[in-house]
Amino acid sequence: MPNVFIKTYGCQMNQRDSEQVARMFTEGGYTVTNDEFEADAILVNTCSVRDQAEQKALGKMGSMVRHRQKRPHVVYGFMGCMAQSRGQELFQNVPHLDVVVGTQKYHKVFEYVDGILQNRLERRMDDLKLTYKGDHICDVEEEKDSQNTIKDHVNNTTDPTAFVSIMQGCNMKCSYCIVPDTRGRERGRPIAEIVEECKTLASRGVKEVTLLGQIVNLYGRTEFPKVDGKSPFVQLLEAVHEIEGIDRIRFTSPHPIGYRDDLVEAFTYLPKLCSHIHFPMQSGSDKILKAMRRPYKNEKFVEIIKKMKAARPDMAITTDIIVGFPGETEEDFMDTLNTVKELEFDNCFVFRYSQRRNTPAAEMLEQHTEKTKEDRNQRLLAVVNEIAQRKNHALIGTVQEVLCTGPSKNNPNTLNSRTPQNKIVILEGNPDRLVGKVFKAKITECTGFTLYGTPLID
Ligand code: 5AD
Ligand code: SF4
Repeated sequence: MPNVFIKTYGCQMNQRDSEQVARMFTEGGYTVTNDEFEADAILVNTCSVRDQAEQKALGKMGSMVRHRQKRPHVVYGFMGCMAQSRGQELFQNVPHLDVVVGTQKYHKVFEYVDGILQNRLERRMDDLKLTYKGDHICDVEEEKDSQNTIKDHVNNTTDPTAFVSIMQGCNMKCSYCIVPDTRGRERGRPIAEIVEECKTLASRGVKEVTLLGQIVNLYGRTEFPKVDGKSPFVQLLEAVHEIEGIDRIRFTSPHPIGYRDDLVEAFTYLPKLCSHIHFPMQSGSDKILKAMRRPYKNEKFVEIIKKMKAARPDMAITTDIIVGFPGETEEDFMDTLNTVKELEFDNCFVFRYSQRRNTPAAEMLEQHTEKTKEDRNQRLLAVVNEIAQRKNHALIGTVQEVLCTGPSKNNPNTLNSRTPQNKIVILEGNPDRLVGKVFKAKITECTGFTLYGTPLID
């Protein structure tokens, strides 16, 4: 039985796409391995959102060439966003690469990789000295309805949480962002198919689904009509809410555009919706938001958060912020810092602006030095971390409802769980009794970002 090793960089969408690919390989008789040294096929699912992510994937793929020495038949493939944006040129950068597959062709990866592998194994039997060059496949074409191909999950897992891709692509044109280039136009899957997928997951013991889309609240806006003033996204939330066995629903990531009152209200009558949104702000300065081509003002962003907190007083909000965008002055940066202080995010991912190919911001004149970006990054992180830790400390002594997801990675003798606010709580207890269950836990301790608790369950 051949082995496939899949390394994933980037967002949850990529993790989900990798799962679809893994499933196709297991159906084709492969074993998914965590050990690259025993792999017959090595795949890297790539991210292009920042230069660092691209360099990591290139570095990893470069270092894995050594496996050819012992296993000359190994097939190497790049998938995902960098594969999409760089295509053929990757074969020049990475001479041992065999396959490059874009974001609309994940469902073809198995066919391409297995085809080459079988070919090589047959040839090897005939002539051991044969080299294996010349098998290149590059498929970065668009494909109609490719959004409907990300629908299967790996079976042999006890994880009570799952990602569900409800759409692909993005029609926005944020001036810093490569995603519209790598993921194409917005395309939603039909509600009925998404519901079917969630029902299958529920029947396998999944309790929590996270609905994924580049701008998830714009789901279906071009394909499906509003019903009773409700957007297709809210209709989808209602339909998933009906499914027996699914106890928790999350989604990521929403955008202020199209974040209307029907979605705010959904949080008042759909109790399975978790009290957390990851809501990217990017900047607190109107001038920079405009330069980013983000079509909202800081005031609008703050207003939505206030409405969300009114709808759900225990709502946790996390965000993404880019620092050192071209032309960002100290005053603009202070606007961001002050908004962070005002809104008291539960957590915040801070990114140093990274110039991306074919994006308008990359051509802007007032680019910052790495030193300025790093300095702002550190100053913002200090504020973000202080707020996050203070909020976590305040939870000591409280009782929270958690979903136990499985053994903790750092210490397999302890268990991981999450509150509705998406905070991780480490527990001690019997995995057979706790994993996959939703129950109350008392928070006993907090070391900075990690909470510890005691299960309150008979
Ligand atoms: N530079 C830095 N950060 C970026 N992001 C997207 N593009 C860039 C870029 N060019 C960040 C945004 C987005 C997150 C996924 O990555 O904050 O929300
Ligand atoms: Fe990276 Fe964006 Fe592609 Fe996700 S969609 S992998 S974040 S570039």
